[in-house]
Amino acid sequence: MLKTVSFITENFGKYDPKSIDSYLSIGGFTAVKRALTMSSNEIIDMAKAASIKGRGGAAYDTGRKWSQAASVPGLNKVVICNADEGEPCTFKDRAIIENDPFRLLEGMIIAGYTVGAQNGYIYLREEYSHLRPLLINAIAESKAKGFLGQNILGSGFSFEIHLYSGAGAYVCGEGSTLIESIEGKSGRPRIKPPFIKECGLFQLPTLVNNVETLAIAAAALTHGIDDYIAFGTEKSPGSKIISLAGNVKKPGTYEIPFGLTIREIIYDIGGGITDDNELKFFQLGGASGSIGPASIVDTPYTYEDLGKVGLTVGSGGVLVVDDRTRVIDFVKSIQDFFIHESCGKCTPCREGNRQILRIVDRFVDGAQNPRDLETAERFAHIMSNCAFCGLGETAQSTLLSAIKYFPEEFEVKGGKLE
Ligand SMILES: Cc1cc2nc3c(=O)[nH]c(=O)nc-3n(C[C@H](O)[C@H](O)[C@H](O)COP(=O)(O)O)c2cc1C
Ligand code: SF4
Repeated sequence: MLKTVSFITENFGKYDPKSIDSYLSIGGFTAVKRALTMSSNEIIDMAKAASIKGRGGAAYDTGRKWSQAASVPGLNKVVICNADEGEPCTFKDRAIIENDPFRLLEGMIIAGYTVGAQNGYIYLREEYSHLRPLLINAIAESKAKGFLGQNILGSGFSFEIHLYSGAGAYVCGEGSTLIESIEGKSGRPRIKPPFIKECGLFQLPTLVNNVETLAIAAAALTHGIDDYIAFGTEKSPGSKIISLAGNVKKPGTYEIPFGLTIREIIYDIGGGITDDNELKFFQLGGASGSIGPASIVDTPYTYEDLGKVGLTVGSGGVLVVDDRTRVIDFVKSIQDFFIHESCGKCTPCREGNRQILRIVDRFVDGAQNPRDLETAERFAHIMSNCAFCGLGETAQSTLLSAIKYFPEEFEVKGGKLE
């Protein structure tokens, strides 16, 4: 099996991302032209057949999501491209925007046409403000060439794209919070129902998709889905852009076919562990993902195989940690992150994170009480079940997986943690 492939990333380095003429010279906008000759149902069927799972983290089936969005009544709908990319150890959306902004716009136009939307919004994280000029130019050039605006390519379909920047909060990557942010409100999630597919931005039916999801849709329409599903496994077809980081020799973004083992990702693609140290554990899907020990490094990177060992693809982050790091110190760094990013709206997350940090701090110092471990686990489960949004629900994935895979690191030996 090929270790890296080039389907979603096929245009990287092949054209000047500042120029639509350069994009057109390599066949750009083939996907939009093709989509406009198809019906909404035909595009949805294609997305379903390709089993494109959303790449923002929740892995929701894109064909299903588009089908639901298309069936919501409404003459004025919205498509949002989620370019918040706030998950730690995740930088693949940035790579797509930097290298292939026009394909992202194609994905948005196709999504808009499919679900019947008139307006698209890109929500770009504040830390990527240097990419604003690139996107502003791509939008303006696409409009000048008739790929955006009124009556696109004479099809009768009209669509505009607007660019918004966040202010740098992780929780604003959550769909309803992102919408509050665009509307100028503070970044806190909305209660559901109503669901944003029916009542989202400015109370309009809204579809939210990740950057990579939209880029895949455009690539699949450019080439047909057979080229895409030729990669991967039966249950996890296709490819995924991963963000490989941490104690690895060759960090970066790589497009991989589903089905490689984590060992192949770390050693063959990443060149192995920095300074040839020993692998201790890895974390998949960013800070909200779980950690896995070196003993399961031969697990294939597919939705189904990772699920069996309690891991998820999530945002596609692969963080490698070597044997110089204590698990409890890593857990503390994640805990600090979630306390900083909790919006404070609900008690389980606001208070739970703080109480767990107090316990984790005692473990770090080797000064824990006999019931601390049990209490931390109980709080973590309460958070997972009772928090108001996905941030609080997943904040304890690291702690719980650390306790599961490294119970010995939570034992006291001689008054201090080993
Ligand atoms: C706290 C939190 C942060 C999130 N951050 C992002 C993000 O930065 N980018 C993203 O695409 N999705 C993020 N998501 C997931 C989105 O809510 C949503 O599921 C996703 O944008 C849908 O797109 P998809 O179906 O294409 O994956 C986040 C979710 C939560 C709960
Ligand atoms: S779980 Fe609650 S406190 Fe935490 S970010 Fe979501 S709404 Fe805010």
